[in-house]
Amino acid sequence: MRVFLAGASGAIGTRLVPQLIDRGHEVIGTSRSPATAERVRALGAEPVLLDLLDPHAVRKAVLESEPDAIVHQATALANVRFSRNLDRSFAQTNLLRTEGTDTLLAAAREAGVRRFVGQSFAGMRYAREGGPVKTEDDPLDPTPVETMRETSAAMTYLDEAVTAAGGIALRYGGFYGAPNDGLLEPVRKRQFPIVANGDGISSFVHFDDAASATVLALDQDGPAIYNIVDDEPAAVREWLPVLADALGAEPPRHVPVWVARLFAGEAGVMLGTESRGASNAKAKRELGWSLRYPTWRQGFVEAYATLRASASERSPVPANVGHPRSASR
Ligand SMILES: NC(=O)c1ccc[n+]([C@@H]2O[C@H](COP(=O)([O-])OP(=O)(O)OC[C@H]3O[C@@H](n4cnc5c(N)ncnc54)[C@H](OP(=O)(O)O)[C@@H]3O)[C@@H](O)[C@H]2O)c1
Repeated sequence: MRVFLAGASGAIGTRLVPQLIDRGHEVIGTSRSPATAERVRALGAEPVLLDLLDPHAVRKAVLESEPDAIVHQATALANVRFSRNLDRSFAQTNLLRTEGTDTLLAAAREAGVRRFVGQSFAGMRYAREGGPVKTEDDPLDPTPVETMRETSAAMTYLDEAVTAAGGIALRYGGFYGAPNDGLLEPVRKRQFPIVANGDGISSFVHFDDAASATVLALDQDGPAIYNIVDDEPAAVREWLPVLADALGAEPPRHVPVWVARLFAGEAGVMLGTESRGASNAKAKRELGWSLRYPTWRQGFVEAYATLRASASERSPVPANVGHPRSASR
């Protein structure tokens, strides 16, 4: 197939291009600058410069490329400062998920594109009631916390618009596997604490596994929604110390809810205490997806081994010596 990949130069896009090519697809990959276009070309795709928020340019690029499939992986999360207000941090990404999706879908219709796969997200979206792990059929949170209402609405918009057009929305877990992953700096600086009992559940997915599921989704008839997450949804109190250790950082702090509310806002408290995880059973069953990193336990260690080694080099003693909790592991 000829695959038009919006966001080919991004964290997931750069993992996806080689996997698509390995599968025998031709890739037309978008980015926004000559430098990122060169990265896309080096990966083996045909680069196209494109602002997804420019409908005329999108229409022209899609019609000229004559793709069989479109994959929407454009977000605007690089260099974002995550504030207490998630909607502020995600404002541009939310536009890419609403207007960007509409524009791509309109171009897809006009160009007779048969397949459409869009990037959605599983974390912090399912209703904060009942069991800890949710399937695609479980209800979404009807009352998202105030500072992430627009962000939740944008993801729901994408899910609905893509599936209404017969496409597939992939609700990925929290991505990891790159040296600049957003979580790393706060965890290293002990700015990401365990809130109260740390009961909030997270689902993760390694970029390589996220990409392999996306390749498989292109062979699947829509409409459909899939959770693309690993096998082990886990409470923050479980995964956060493991991540800190994998980075050679000190163990996370513990803070009560009122302190977390002051520093991380309501969304941070929700993530730490109430968020639900997601099940990948449907993706495994229907896409035939198998994971190279079935759990973040193995994935964090492998992904960040080099970073941990350089942390140890900077420190005269092994990075976890002197921390009582790491001694028991
Ligand atoms: N669901 C999530 O929570 C999620 C999703 C994605 C990424 N992330 C995290 O965010 C961090 C940064 O991600 P990233 O490196 O992928 O960068 P990013 O800034 O999110 O960019 C992703 C892709 O979208 C493209 N893009 C951005 N704005 C665009 C626009 N207006 N029109 C068309 N394309 C546009 C980028 O092009 P250029 O490269 O040319 O700017 C790039 O190809 C990573 O740590 C990653 O783990 C999280």
